[in-house]
Amino acid sequence: MLTKYLVRLMAALCILLAQPLLAAAADEPLKIGLIVPLTGGQASTGKQLANAVTLYMSETGDVVAGRKIEVIVRDDGANPENTKRIAQELIVNDKVGIIAGFGITPTALAAAPLATQARIPEIVMLAGTSIITERSPYIVRTSFTLAQSSVIIGDWAAKNGIRKVATLTTDYAPGNDALQFFKARFVAGGGEIVDEVKVPLVNPDFAPFLQRMKDAKPDALFVFVPGGQGGNFMKQFAERGLDKSGIRIIGPGDVMDDDLLDNMGDAALGTVTAHMYSAAHKSAKNIAFVAAYRKMFGSRPGFVAVGGYDGIHLIYQALKKTAGKSDGDTLVEAMKGMAWESPRGPVSIDPETRDIVQNIYIRKVEKVDGELYNVEFATFEAVKDPGKTPK
Ligand code: PHB
Repeated sequence: MLTKYLVRLMAALCILLAQPLLAAAADEPLKIGLIVPLTGGQASTGKQLANAVTLYMSETGDVVAGRKIEVIVRDDGANPENTKRIAQELIVNDKVGIIAGFGITPTALAAAPLATQARIPEIVMLAGTSIITERSPYIVRTSFTLAQSSVIIGDWAAKNGIRKVATLTTDYAPGNDALQFFKARFVAGGGEIVDEVKVPLVNPDFAPFLQRMKDAKPDALFVFVPGGQGGNFMKQFAERGLDKSGIRIIGPGDVMDDDLLDNMGDAALGTVTAHMYSAAHKSAKNIAFVAAYRKMFGSRPGFVAVGGYDGIHLIYQALKKTAGKSDGDTLVEAMKGMAWESPRGPVSIDPETRDIVQNIYIRKVEKVDGELYNVEFATFEAVKDPGKTPK
C-alpha cells in the first residue's frame, strides 16, 4: 500500500518538475528548414517556393499557438548530394523541427531517410513522383503527382479526336510517371503512340525531336518538362514553326507554368493541359492570392508557388491543432485528413498516404485581357494519387 502511494507520489512529482521544461519547449521557436533550388536550371521554381512562404507569413504572422516560426532558407541547386548535407546540417546544428521545399524528386528522396531518422516532418512542396510519400512515414505532400493529371489528359485526348501522339518527357522519375500513366489511358482509349523521346533534366536540347516531329506530323505532342523549363521548350517549338503545323501540345500542366506562360507568345495558344492550378482559377481566394503575390514580387504565381503556400499553411494549421506541440509524430498525425481551401480549390491530405487530394482541371491556353492564361473548362473533383503501390 505504502509503496503504491510512494510510486504515485514520485510520478506526480516528476510531472510537476517537468512542467516548466514542457512549457519552455512549447514557447521555443519552431525552426523550419526550407531546402529549395535557388541556383541552376530549376532556380525559378525555388524562388517561387520561397516567395510563397514569405507571402504567407507576411499575411498570417510568424507566431502560431505561442510558437514563433523561423524559416531558414537553403539553396541545394537541385543537387541531391547537397540536399542530404544541408538537411543533416539543419537537423543537427540548427535543430530544425521540420524540413520543407524540395524542387525535384531526387532531392525529396535524398532527404527522406534523414526525416525518418530524426522523426521530423518533411513537407514536399513541389516534387511530384508518386513513390515519394512511400519513402518515409514523415513525408506529407502539398504539390501534386504526375499520375493525377496524366490519367486525366490521357482520357481526354482519346475522347477528343486525338489519335497519334508523340511523347517528349524529361528522363527521370516524374517524367516516367507522366509517360506511363498517360500512355496506359490513351492507348486503352484507342490512341497510338508513334514516337517516344526522353531528354535529360539538365540542359535539355529539344531541337532534334522537334525537327523530327515537323515531318512526322502526329496529331499532338505529349510533353512533360519540370516547372521552369516550359519557356525554353516553347521558344524552340515556335522557332521551328511547329506552332503553324497544326500539331498541338498536350500534357500535365508543368510545361504551361503560369510563371512563364505570358512570355511564351501566341505559340502557346490552344495548348490543352490537365493540372491542379491556374492563375485564372475563378475563386475569391485565388484572386486575392494572385493580387497579393503580384504586389509583393511583381510577377504571376504559378503552380509551384501554390504548393509552397499550402505547405506552410499546412504546418501552421497542424501546429494550431496540436496547440504548439511540435514533435514529428504529433505534427504528422495532425496533418492527416486536414482539409482547407487553397488558391487552387478545395484540398485535403489523404490520411492513408499523406498525399494531397485535389481537383484536377483541364485547361486551354487563351488570351484574357491581352495576357495568356490556362483557362479551366472541366473539373475532376477530389482526385487521389492513382500512382500508389497497392497495399
Ligand atoms: C519533380 O522533380 O518531381 C518535379 C519537378 C517539377 C515539376 C514536376 C515534378 O513541375
